[in-house]
Amino acid sequence: MHVEIRQATQSDYQGISDLAMSAFGISEGPEIVQLIGDLSADVTAQPVLSLVAATHGSIVGHVLFSKVRLKPSSHKVSAAILAPLAVHPDFQSRGIGGKLISEGLRQLSHSGVDLVFVLGHPGYYPRFGFSAAGSKGFQAPYPISPKNADAWMVLELRPGIIGNTSGQVICADALADPRHWCE
Ligand SMILES: CC(C)(COP(=O)(O)OP(=O)(O)OC[C@H]1O[C@@H](n2cnc3c(N)ncnc32)[C@H](O)[C@@H]1OP(=O)(O)O)[C@@H](O)C(=O)NCCC(=O)NCCS
Repeated sequence: MHVEIRQATQSDYQGISDLAMSAFGISEGPEIVQLIGDLSADVTAQPVLSLVAATHGSIVGHVLFSKVRLKPSSHKVSAAILAPLAVHPDFQSRGIGGKLISEGLRQLSHSGVDLVFVLGHPGYYPRFGFSAAGSKGFQAPYPISPKNADAWMVLELRPGIIGNTSGQVICADALADPRHWCE
């Protein structure tokens, strides 16, 4: 099965929305669809990197990265957050999520991003190099309960940032809603 990873275009919006509904289900899907639309239109989220995985003309995976900043601000550090990520249930466990993440990280690194954050499954993201962010001095936009502390993770794309920078992560307005921060 050939899966193409490419940048999303305007005409992919419906395909991405359908995919998000399939992956997240009826309870979470509508909120995720709304989030994707809001982030794409939100000036505080820019630049966003939106990648799709497509096969036989259908979108089977999607990942979105949006800009975040650190408080206190550090003009020397550029950072992004990965959210959301979805792979169609019929295509999961074939490495598509991994391809989307790896390609996203490659493109972010190329465009000068230093740090990437994620709030997600601690059993999944460490295989791409993510590790606990709180213990490295990076607070999430909203407090994460201690029992889920491992879900708040960071990855360094430019060596030497972690250990020399810390602070609270301020995300885009569209992501700055506590309901997006319940892990
Ligand atoms: C999470 C998700 C994006 C992974 O996509 P994928 O294409 O299936 O992932 P990959 O094929 O790259 O990796 C599959 C591996 O990830 C593991 N994995 C998938 N979801 C996981 C989870 N929630 N926690 C831990 N591991 C997970 C699988 O068990 C599999 O492990 P293996 O390689 O040891 O067999 C996909 O399952 C999905 O869309 N889930 C629903 C939406 C969601 O939860 N999004 C992420 C929000 S943080």
